Amino acid sequence: MKTYDVVIVGAGGAGMAAALNASRGGDLSVAVLTKVFPTRSHTGAAQGGMNAALGYRDETDSIESHFYDTVKGSDFLADQDAVEFFVSGMPELVLELEGMGVPYSRDEQGRIAQRPFGGASHPRCCYSADKTGHVVLHALYENCVKNGVEFLDEHNLLDIAQVDGQLQGVVAIDLRRGKIETFQAKAVVIAAGGFGRVYWSRTTNATNMTGDGVAACLRAGVPIKDPEFVQFHPTGLASTGVLLSEACRGEGGYLINNEGERFMARYAPEKIELGPRDLVARSIETEIKEGRGFGQGMGSYVLMDLRHLGAERIMERLPQVRELAMAFEGVDMITDPVPIRPSNHYMMGGIDVVDFRTCATAVDGLHAAGECSCISVHGANRLGGNSVSEVVFFGKQAGIGAAETARRRDFAGTDRLEELERQWDERFRAVRAKRTGESMFAIRDRMAEAMWNGVGIFRTEEGMAAAEAVVDECMAAYADARIDDDSQVYNQAFMNYVELGNVLSIAKTVCMGARARTESRGSHSREDYPVRDDERFLAHTLVSLGSDGAFTLGYRPVSVTRFAPEERKY
Ligand code: FUM
Repeated sequence: MKTYDVVIVGAGGAGMAAALNASRGGDLSVAVLTKVFPTRSHTGAAQGGMNAALGYRDETDSIESHFYDTVKGSDFLADQDAVEFFVSGMPELVLELEGMGVPYSRDEQGRIAQRPFGGASHPRCCYSADKTGHVVLHALYENCVKNGVEFLDEHNLLDIAQVDGQLQGVVAIDLRRGKIETFQAKAVVIAAGGFGRVYWSRTTNATNMTGDGVAACLRAGVPIKDPEFVQFHPTGLASTGVLLSEACRGEGGYLINNEGERFMARYAPEKIELGPRDLVARSIETEIKEGRGFGQGMGSYVLMDLRHLGAERIMERLPQVRELAMAFEGVDMITDPVPIRPSNHYMMGGIDVVDFRTCATAVDGLHAAGECSCISVHGANRLGGNSVSEVVFFGKQAGIGAAETARRRDFAGTDRLEELERQWDERFRAVRAKRTGESMFAIRDRMAEAMWNGVGIFRTEEGMAAAEAVVDECMAAYADARIDDDSQVYNQAFMNYVELGNVLSIAKTVCMGARARTESRGSHSREDYPVRDDERFLAHTLVSLGSDGAFTLGYRPVSVTRFAPEERKY
């Protein structure tokens, strides 16, 4: 068993911001467990930028305006005290990152450049061309190394050990050695990323975004908050779902249907292509459904036209997305429009955080930050550019909070850690030896197809009930699945098997939360309940998993401190 004051699970923007800040006092041992080499984490896929009301490009921008845009974008489900705290701290944080070496793009006066993004009333998205997440990751990693943070790569989380609400630590598998390991800690920050791979068939997410931290929290008795709010990014590349950044629209790209029309003007007369993501994604899918798209079935698409920007601007501001469009669609955006269609991108829901200042959960010692967490600052729909901001901002808060926890709290025993270690050792042995049962990949594909078709951009009770029935069948088949790889060392198939168990249990919570929410709000768009219902549903969903394996639903009121709910118009 290894022992640290603070263990961080995940080395993306949130995990590394947490590690950096937990290590700042120099008095605590801090380790980061990560599935991949830190600078390969999924934050690196964040292209367009991070929001902060610096007011450089538009001096009329303000914290107040960022606050209101975020709450309105969330369809009034965000907790407003948390949003105010978040947006107020962002300008300083962007400058702190600059000091750490983030190479932002610059305006004519040499200041940090800002571009317009969807749902924002002012251009406030700070960026580094279209590689913002990548450069933020590198700056955080270098500063963590400078601070002596210990990184344990290819250590994948299996479970969280807690007894009577007191954290003991975490259990992980060291893939390189093929060994189950236990980590006793005074404080743990789960920053293990989102769970977009619930929608395996079409997502912008890396293959390892399987909600391992979220599912481990569920099993440890921490609820998932608002799992039904699933963001579909309007512009995934048509054939693969790979992200084509919102920066394309921020820089002035048009969306065009098969009649050559800039159709967004009909759906968002004021903002046009720069409406919020839920609205733009629904508009694209409506164009396709009503016969104004190109292609057929899953191969349907509309076009993103950037040609009018010219080669020089595209090469300066959007070099990576140009390469992606060439690689995956065979199209050069300088000379041709790019086929696009919405793609699963981000989960507004996640681990239930109960204190937004420290990112603490209800388990003493356990904190959560980043996409795996739900604080909630995004409510029912996240604005583009608020994710890199959020992961670094609340990663920092979680690191500071975890350090405080580790200083006040002692280790809380090892009995549950040892029990989980024995269980995982046994499971690792048994699953490798298994030769019968359904292939885990077949189970995964059934789940993904059901979730895409039944709990996607447009939802009905009938479709969601059918999807949940498939998820239930998949969970039953999973209990008897085979993995076809008996290696001890570097058994990636075993990890895929663990990940499948995680996405299945999360898929179940998405279905439950979505079916019970008989209204439309933000990304949760029900054809059978098209109207928002603040009387009944100005509330966060909480899905818990009991020790008997049963999932239960509960609700918690939203914190409304400033802006009364109103109809959203763009
Ligand atoms: O479109 C993008 O560049 C993604 C940004 C985000 O999700 O915030």
